[in-house]
Amino acid sequence: MPLEVVILAAGQGTRMKSSLPKVLHPLAGRPMVGHVLDTARHLQADKLHVVVGHGSEKLCDYLSDSDDINIVEQTEQLGTGHAVAQSMSEVAENSTVLILYGDVPLISESTLSQLVDSCAGEHLALLTVTLDNPSGYGRILRSSEGEVLAIVEQKDANIEQLKVKEVNTGIMALPAKLLNEWLPKLSADNTQGEYYLTDIIAMAAQQEVAINASQPASTAEVEGVNNRLQLAKLERVYQKAQTDFWMAFGVSFYDPARVDFRGQVELGQDVSVDINVIFEGSVRIGNHVSIGPNCVLKDCVIGDGVTIKANSLIEESQVAADCEIGPFARLRPGTELATGVKIGNFVETKKAIVGEGSKINHLSYVGDSELGKDVNIGAGTITCNYDGVNKHKTEIGDNAFIGSNTALVAPVSVGKGSTTGAGSTITKAVPDNTLAVARGKQIFLKDWKRPEKA
Ligand code: UD1
Ligand code: CA
Repeated sequence: MPLEVVILAAGQGTRMKSSLPKVLHPLAGRPMVGHVLDTARHLQADKLHVVVGHGSEKLCDYLSDSDDINIVEQTEQLGTGHAVAQSMSEVAENSTVLILYGDVPLISESTLSQLVDSCAGEHLALLTVTLDNPSGYGRILRSSEGEVLAIVEQKDANIEQLKVKEVNTGIMALPAKLLNEWLPKLSADNTQGEYYLTDIIAMAAQQEVAINASQPASTAEVEGVNNRLQLAKLERVYQKAQTDFWMAFGVSFYDPARVDFRGQVELGQDVSVDINVIFEGSVRIGNHVSIGPNCVLKDCVIGDGVTIKANSLIEESQVAADCEIGPFARLRPGTELATGVKIGNFVETKKAIVGEGSKINHLSYVGDSELGKDVNIGAGTITCNYDGVNKHKTEIGDNAFIGSNTALVAPVSVGKGSTTGAGSTITKAVPDNTLAVARGKQIFLKDWKRPEKA
């Protein structure tokens, strides 16, 4: 039976006090609705529908980046039942519909797949949760035998009903056929004047459709975000789950509360992570890697035994085993370091391929460059790769020694085993095994007098 997911995201999110639509606010570096979409994709849903509010260009822009999403516009927010109804013309009659929410970002794949299983293509599977403080939520009403009979919204509930602590999460799975039968029968005759999706529960009970209520593994999974405080709380829940997972796997965090995962991260064993480290995008880290404080690692691959010292930034780069990076190093996109390379403080690399054992220890810029093995780049070396219009390449052979404060004006090359004198401006290709010196000669003016005041 096909599975179609309808994600409600038309609410305004007024309490976020933001020009950004609520569901685009990031959790772990990506929009909340992005988390929900991804979880839905993991369930192998056949179709994803997102119900958006009228005029939400930013949200539509974000959603239209993926071609597997059907955007459904709900011109007026007339209630959750009305929102789901807007999408039904696009939903196959023989499918199971799973209803999710763009502002409930931490719902897990396993909870949902159990829910879909318990729907089994014919029942109404409802996700509920028991809360100490159920205030604000729709209450689950059960018969004396424990069968679910109905949901009553907080604003429509009587004193007895308000005492019920089992509440509706809003998440449910049921056959499209039943939704098509029930949604047109909803009325807005209630305190809020809305078409409540929750009213279909009583219809199911009347028709003796089985209502299977189940609970998520943790309440955070079904918590919605209405304001920035709740978002920050869920961010911590998400981050804690990451550090818990990796610690069980063999990663040490100096302080698990001071590290952020914002993407797809894979860590090896015996990795140690100091405070204020941020992992972003797709990051893969080998075994026995040590990461110092205040490092940002984005879209990179780091080999075994690498040491990354404090305050280093690595982006779209590949670092092979046993390299030493930092402190204060910046590896920009296209940096590829072979085994045992050292990149020291205040060194910036970009599109730089650096051979085994080479060292760039201090204060250098190496861009659009290819370096051989065991090259030593002296402090203050700059590859002048940009002429204001085009970028040019610098090539440096194995065992070359670049003197401090050399300017390499690309396109240029330095041959194997060659040396450049400190302070040289190299504009012509240096052959192999040659010393190139390109700087003003030192002169002596004997008994030269300093100027005197007139
Ligand atoms: C809803 C449930 C309630 C449940 C609670 C859980 C109904 C009638 N009530 O109440 O039983 O305990 O969620 O959080 O379903 N939305 C639209 N279009 C609309 C209205 C809402 O897309 O016309 C979206 C909102 O963006 C939001 C979600 O649906 O993400 C829930 O809507 P909201 O109005 O917040 O429902 P609650 O009153 O919280
Ligand atoms: Ca709500």
